[in-house]
Amino acid sequence: MTQDNVLCDIGFIGLGVMGNNLVLNLVDNGFSVAAFDLCKNKVQRIIEQDQAENITGTQRVYDSSSYAELLTQLKAPHLIILSVPAGDAVEQVCESLISAGIQTNAIVIDTGNSLWVDTVAREKKYKNHFTFFSSAVSGGEVGARFGPSLMPSGSFEAWSRIKPIWEAIAAKVDPETGKPLMRSKPGEIINSGEPCAAYIGPAGAGHYVKMVHNGIEYADMQIICESYHILSTGLGLNVNDIADIFEEWNNGLLDSYLMEITIEVLRHKSVDTNTPLVHLILDKAEQKGTGVWTAISSLDVGCPTPTITQAVYARSTSSFKTVRIKASKILKGPETIQLTAQEKQIQIEQLHDAIYCAKICAYAQGFQLMKLAAIEQGWSLDFTSIAKIWRAGCIIRATFLQSIVRAYNENSSLDNLLLDSFFAEQLNQRQLNWRKAICNATMFGIPNGALSSALSYYDSMRSETLPANLLQGQRDFFGAHTFERIDKLEGKKYHVQWSSTERKTVEIV
Ligand code: 6PG
Repeated sequence: MTQDNVLCDIGFIGLGVMGNNLVLNLVDNGFSVAAFDLCKNKVQRIIEQDQAENITGTQRVYDSSSYAELLTQLKAPHLIILSVPAGDAVEQVCESLISAGIQTNAIVIDTGNSLWVDTVAREKKYKNHFTFFSSAVSGGEVGARFGPSLMPSGSFEAWSRIKPIWEAIAAKVDPETGKPLMRSKPGEIINSGEPCAAYIGPAGAGHYVKMVHNGIEYADMQIICESYHILSTGLGLNVNDIADIFEEWNNGLLDSYLMEITIEVLRHKSVDTNTPLVHLILDKAEQKGTGVWTAISSLDVGCPTPTITQAVYARSTSSFKTVRIKASKILKGPETIQLTAQEKQIQIEQLHDAIYCAKICAYAQGFQLMKLAAIEQGWSLDFTSIAKIWRAGCIIRATFLQSIVRAYNENSSLDNLLLDSFFAEQLNQRQLNWRKAICNATMFGIPNGALSSALSYYDSMRSETLPANLLQGQRDFFGAHTFERIDKLEGKKYHVQWSSTERKTVEIV
C-alpha cells in the first residue's frame, strides 16, 4: 500500500525513456501507477515530472522502493508492465518478482523489443508463477508519451483485462482517412478514432509482427537515405533543396512519419558551426538487432525479403569506414556526369516513383513474411488489423498504410501485396521510371541496394519463368539432386546419368 493507503491500478518496472513516457501516458488516461526502477533517481524524476504536468493535483505515480513493496501497492489481481532492455533483464525482473512473492493470478507484460522466440519460451517458463504476456510497442519516446502503436500477444484471457488500458493509451487514427489523431500535450486525451492496439495472437506473435515492422522500418529508412545520396552526390543538390523536394513528396504519395523526420534532420543546423548537422554526423549506422532478426527469419521461413535484408547490409557496410576510406583511394567509379536543370528535374521525378515502388515491395516482403511465418507457427494473423494499427503511433506510420488496409479488407488471404489490383496498377504505371532512376544512380556510381533489390524482387515475382531450370540442371549434374520436368507429371523426379556416355534421363521411383 502507498503512503496514502492507495492501491494502484498498475505496477511499472523500468523507467528509461520509453518506460517513463508510458507511465505518464497511463496516468494521463486515469490509471494510477506504482513505479519501480533500480535507479532511484528515475523514480524520483517521474514523480516530479508527474507533479509538474498534473493539473488535477492528485498524485498518480507512486514510488516503489523494491519489488516486494511494489506488489503490496497494487490492486489484485496484479498487473505489472515491464519496460526493461530486451534479453536477460526481462528474466532477471521476472525472477525477482517470483522471489518477492508475485501471485499466480498476476499478469506481467513485457513491452521491450524482445526476440519473439524468447517470448514464447518465457510464457511457458513462468506459467506456474504468473501469466507472462507481451506487447510490442512502437513509436519511440513521443509515441510512448502521446500514443504508441501496440502489438499485444499471449493469453486471450489476459488480453481481455489489458485491452481497455491498451486502447486508452494507444495512438488513435481517423478510420476514414487513416490519418493519425495525435495528442501532443500532457493531460490531453483523445476519445475518438480507432485505437492502434489490437490482439495479434498467441505468445510471440506480437513480437514477431513488431520485428517485421522494424524490418520494414529499416527498408523505408534505407530507401530514403539512398534517395538523399542520389540527390546530393548525384544531382549535386544542397540539403535545403533536398528537404524542399522531400517536403513536396511528403504532401503526396510518399507522406510518412519517416519522411517527415528526415526533412527535420536535413534542415537542422549545428548550433556551434551553423552548418547542416547531417554533414557532421559520422556515416556509420548502428543497429540493435531487430532488422537482423527479420532477415534471419526470412531465410528460415524461405520467404524473400531482399529489400529489408539489403537495408541491414547497408548498415553493416557503412560500419566498414576504414576499409571504405582505403578503397575510395584505389577503386574507380564512373566519370562525373553534367546534367541540365531540366534533366535533373526529370531524374527527380523518376526517383520519386522509384521510392514509391520500392516501398510497396518492402511492405509486400514484410507482409508475405508474416503470412508464411504465421502458417508455420499456427497463428492466424489478421493483416487488415495489423495494417490498421500501423497507421498511427508507430515509426512506419504513413497514409500509404490505408491502401494496405483496403487491400487486405478486400482479400484477407492475399498471397502478396503485388497481386492487389491497386498496387499492381501503381507499379505498372511507375516501373519504367523506377528502372531509369536505378540506371541513373548506377551511372553516378551511387549505391542503391534497397531501391534496386526491390526492383529485382519485383522483376522476379512478375516472371512466369526464372533460370531456376538451369540451376536444377547444375544441381543434378554435380549432386544427382534430381529435377521435375514441365512436360511430365507434376511431382515426378528425374536424373540424368551425367557421367555415362549416353547421359540417359531416368525417372526416380
Ligand atoms: C519503434 C522503433 C524502436 C527502435 C528501433 C531502433 O518502432 O519504436 O523501431 O523499436 O527505435 O528498435 O532500432 P535500431 O537501433 O536497430 O535502428
